[in-house]
This record gives sequence, C-alpha cells and structure tokens, in this order.
Amino acid sequence: MTENERHLLQRAYEEVKKYQEIVQSDPYRLDYHLMPPVGLLNDPNGLIQFKGVYHVFYQWNPFNTSHGAKFWGHYTSTDMVHWREEPIALAPSEWYEKNGCYSGSAIESEGKLYLFYTGNVKNDDGTRETYQCLAASSDGIHYEKYGPILHLPEGYTAHFRDPKVWKKNNRWYMILGAQTKANRGTAVLFTSIDLFHWEEIGMIAGAGINGLEDFGYMWECPDLFYLNGKDILMVSPQGLDPNGHLYNNLFQSGYFIGEFDYANNKYQSGPFIELDRGFDFYAPQTFMDETGRTILYGWMGMTDEYEQYQPTISYNWVHALTIPRKLEYKKGKVYQKPVEELTKLRKDRIIVNNVKIKDQQVQFDGVEGKTVELVLEALKVNEGKFQISLRNEASLIYDSSKKEISLQRRNVRTGLQESRTCLIESLSKLHIFMDHSSLEIFINDGEEVFTARYFPNPKVETITFQGNAFFSLTKWDLV
Ligand code: FRU
Repeated sequence: MTENERHLLQRAYEEVKKYQEIVQSDPYRLDYHLMPPVGLLNDPNGLIQFKGVYHVFYQWNPFNTSHGAKFWGHYTSTDMVHWREEPIALAPSEWYEKNGCYSGSAIESEGKLYLFYTGNVKNDDGTRETYQCLAASSDGIHYEKYGPILHLPEGYTAHFRDPKVWKKNNRWYMILGAQTKANRGTAVLFTSIDLFHWEEIGMIAGAGINGLEDFGYMWECPDLFYLNGKDILMVSPQGLDPNGHLYNNLFQSGYFIGEFDYANNKYQSGPFIELDRGFDFYAPQTFMDETGRTILYGWMGMTDEYEQYQPTISYNWVHALTIPRKLEYKKGKVYQKPVEELTKLRKDRIIVNNVKIKDQQVQFDGVEGKTVELVLEALKVNEGKFQISLRNEASLIYDSSKKEISLQRRNVRTGLQESRTCLIESLSKLHIFMDHSSLEIFINDGEEVFTARYFPNPKVETITFQGNAFFSLTKWDLV
C-alpha cells in the first residue's frame, strides 16, 4: 500500500466515524437499502457472487455530499438482505486515478476476484485522461492494484469509461461507454485472452448503427448480457430530449434487445426501451449469480439540479441503491421483479380480501407505515381513476380511460407536484416497496417499474385508496 493510499483511507474512515451519529439520526435514513455510511453514493459497481458471497461495491465520495474523487465502497452478503460493511476496496491514490476510481465491474478467474474500473484524471487546464484499470483479490476484501491495462484508443474523447467485463467461449470481453470525437454516445467492445491485454473490436451500438439516429452525447455504464435467448445491451445515455412520456429525467437508463454474433462481432438490435419510469434511477448494472439469475441494482439517484436539495444532506449523506431485482425477458420486454430473498424482511401481515371501493377515499385498519410492502392483486379498475396516496407525499394514479399510470410527488426544490407517466394496457397487479424515503413500484409483475425518493413528514404514515376499483390487498411491515 502506498503512503498516499494509507493516508486517504485513514481520512475516509475518520469521516465515517465523525459523522456516524448524525447520519444515523436522520429520519430519512433507509432500513433495507444500501447507503453510504457518510457522504455521497452513486453507481453500483463490481456486482458479483464470489465463492458464495454477494459483493456490491459503489461509487463513493466519503468527504462530501457532492461528486468528487470517488472511492469504491464495499458491502457483502450471503442473502442480499443482511449486509456487512467491508473495508474500502479502492481509494483514488495513484496518478492514473487521482480524480476518482470510477465505475466498473467484477469477474472471477482462477479463484481470484478482479475489479475493472476507470481511472479518472482531471488536469488543471480542464482536460481529462481516462485509464481502464485492474485490481485483484484472493479473499474478495483486500485488493492489489495493477494499474492501467487499457489506454484511450483513437476516435474517442476522454469520456470513455465504465468497463463491464464477461467471458464467452474462452475469451474475455469488455464493453465501455464512450463519446466519439463528433460528440455522440456509443458503446465500444474489446476482447482479451488474459485480462491484461485488450484488443479493440469497435463500436457495437450508437448513432448510425442499427438504424439509431443521434442518441445522446455520451453513453455511460454499458452492460451486455444474455437473458432468456436475447442479448440485452443496457446503457445510460446522456443528452436525450424529453419526448412525451419518455426521457423526462435529466439522464436515462434503458436497453436494446438484440442478438450479438460473437463470430463476426456484430450486434443487431431493436429500439431503445426505458428501464424505469420514476424519477430516481440511473447507471444500473447486472450480474449472474450462482443460481443463474440475472440480478440488477441501480442507483436510486441522479446527478441533476435537484440532488443537492435532498434533505438528507443536512445529515451528511445522500443517495442509495435500489433493492435487487431479478430480470426476465418476455413479451418483447425486460421484466424486473424484487428478488425472492426480500420476503425475509416481512413481518406482521395484514390481508384484506375482495375489496370493492367506489369514489370515496378509504383506509384499511393497520394498512399504514413507513417501511411497508404492499401487494394489490386481482386488481380491476372499472372506470375513471384509481389512486393510492402514500404518506401524503406521493400518489400513484391509474387513469383507466387513458390507460396511463403516473407517479406524482413533491419536488424537493420547488415544492411543486411533478409526475412521471407511462402507458399500461391493463392493470392487474401492484407491488410496492416503501422505505423511509424511497418508493419502488412494480406494475403487473415487473412490466414497468417506478423508482423514486420522496421525503414525507416522518410522522405521517397514512396510506389511502380512492376510485372505482376491486382488489385483494396484502400488507407487510418490513425489517
Ligand atoms: C455515472 C457515472 C459514470 C462514472 C461515475 C463517476 O453516474 O458518471 O459514468 O464512472 O458515475 O462517479
């Protein structure tokens, strides 16, 4: 370990200790989501199940609730429910990463866990440098850095980052998010046989490929994975203009469905599909666990003009990751479902069967709370609107005549109501995860998902239902 690394680690641990109490006293601290112990968290990184243990790393600025020279924070678990905070995996201590150990991925090879990440360098004259770096560990906890293994190739700006690595037919592949010299977002593929030497294959998606027109100025955090017979390319494009109900957040996350031909290195795909319909969702990543499930974590946040207004900032922390979601490809879409392990969080069940409500606003005995899981099944909305109001701060509204579902909440900066909407052919099931300041709403078993942070009055726990609807309701308190 270098002197600089030792020094940075020490400062980061001091910061955790110094603010521990205030962070923990925040009424908006979440109960069952991964959060930074202090400071700012953004992307999930290096997702892997290694020797039976789940590892989740994350982009972390321990020194501030703003973005900066990122570390890789680290959590482990054997069930994706109970997590342990591990020592910091990577600190931005070396010249090639001095402004951040940026996002990346993990693989296992010959009993070792390898982390690929982007070394981010910002020079005084405003220019940037980017290095794809490698670190490895035998125990999954302590990492040895090998430094840069890939330099910026010709044709791209220094916005070239977020390596995701996987193995296919005894070769390694790495996909990176990039910006062409013409300022277009793209995904670039590399291959290797030894993890240390990488050869460029080229762009496999972006403007001008597969009929895609101009599609943003930068693509971040790409991920190419096989799911039920399809090769899904997930990316987080920046610079898309809002288009009706689409692309209303500052940055987007979504996927293409296609086939990757490994013999000719060609990716054929359809159009871009947005992955989440809520306000706070970005930079998702997937991994395949030992049971063969493809599991996704996303960042429940966004680098937009509102992030600095989140009330958690006065408690010296900001942002969280989503709950883990199992992906499935069916009916031309990627479905997302909370992983089954989360049922371990359930306590105190309440069931209300065969509810029929008409117009008036209703509440049900015991159906209230802050950390709650709600399932509405056999749901039928006969006419008009059906609305669930959550702690007086957010509402889910289904408009049966327009076949639109919307999530409404109060904006943290303006105090005004804002909403996100998507079309849904018919509504039959809602599955809602509430934590103290987060909502994850799964529609029709994961056909659509709305993810959002919200900041209700901590004393308000009311949940109300209104409209013409028929359903059976189950509610659990969580944790
Ligand atoms: C996405 C991102 C990545 C980058 C990281 C830096 O949110 O901008 O492209 O590696 O965050 O923290």
